[in-house]
Amino acid sequence: MGLSSFALTDRVAIVTGAGQGIGRGIALGLAEAGADIVAAELEPSRAEQTAAEIRSRGRKALVVPADVRIASQVDNVVRRTLAEFGRIDVLVNNAGGLLGIVGPLLETKEEDWDRGITLNLKSVFLCCKAVGKVMAAQKKGVIINISSVAGMGAYTPAPHYGVAKAGVINLTQTLAMELAPLGIRVNAIAPGTVATALVEELFRTRPELREKRLKSIPMGRLGRPEDIAAAVVYLASDASDYVTGEVLAVKGGLPFVG
Ligand SMILES: NC(=O)c1ccc[n+]([C@@H]2O[C@H](COP(=O)([O-])OP(=O)(O)OC[C@H]3O[C@@H](n4cnc5c(N)ncnc54)[C@H](O)[C@@H]3O)[C@@H](O)[C@H]2O)c1
Repeated sequence: MGLSSFALTDRVAIVTGAGQGIGRGIALGLAEAGADIVAAELEPSRAEQTAAEIRSRGRKALVVPADVRIASQVDNVVRRTLAEFGRIDVLVNNAGGLLGIVGPLLETKEEDWDRGITLNLKSVFLCCKAVGKVMAAQKKGVIINISSVAGMGAYTPAPHYGVAKAGVINLTQTLAMELAPLGIRVNAIAPGTVATALVEELFRTRPELREKRLKSIPMGRLGRPEDIAAAVVYLASDASDYVTGEVLAVKGGLPFVG
């Protein structure tokens, strides 16, 4: 198997939250590897910018406005993708975030807990279910869920988020077992601290974390969306044909977040 197995020529990939940050980086990375992209976004104007960059690189891009917390809107993403491209090869569940809910577990309001779990875990369930059914019929497909190092151990800054991201890892492992006999692979990526609007928001709320986090990263820099995109391209491609149910941490050597 040569390096051509990393290519994604003419594959159809849905990326949720592709309008900015890591999702934008993933969409551009997949397009660079040859894929056509469906950008499912809460903020379609952001996604249109990503789509314009993809088209300027010679690949197709479709923006579907969607709130991935709502099943009917997820179903619409699937419908529009099938109408435009006829199949779904890759799903990247990237949309997620802190929602400005930062603070100790005992201070977390019940409605904030629900909001965090809905955005970061239920959305992944809904997208996996809707797209998984299409992939099951195709007997082909790859799902990549963006978890976090926050889901790999205690995460004190935002417990709702850590718990949801841990749930994403378990969902990944379970779905990988369910779909392996159909030739569908499901993996997760756990980014460390990546320089995006989400992290800027966290550092604004908890300024002491900026210095602390940088000091704790052995490689001495924050991650870039491209670092995550490279891992997604690998997991989306035939190069990872024997990899399923895994969590690939991309975190500059960061031992633990805490
Ligand atoms: N930045 C980090 O350090 C980091 C670390 C680990 C994991 N992650 C995860 O990576 C993913 C992307 O994070 P980011 O830092 O790029 O965030 P970001 O806030 O910069 O971008 C998130 C994008 O998702 C979109 N989005 C939000 N809610 C949505 C919804 N309900 N439906 C559709 N789209 C929605 C937003 O409009 C935005 O364009 C998230 O799942 C996040 O939890 C980020």
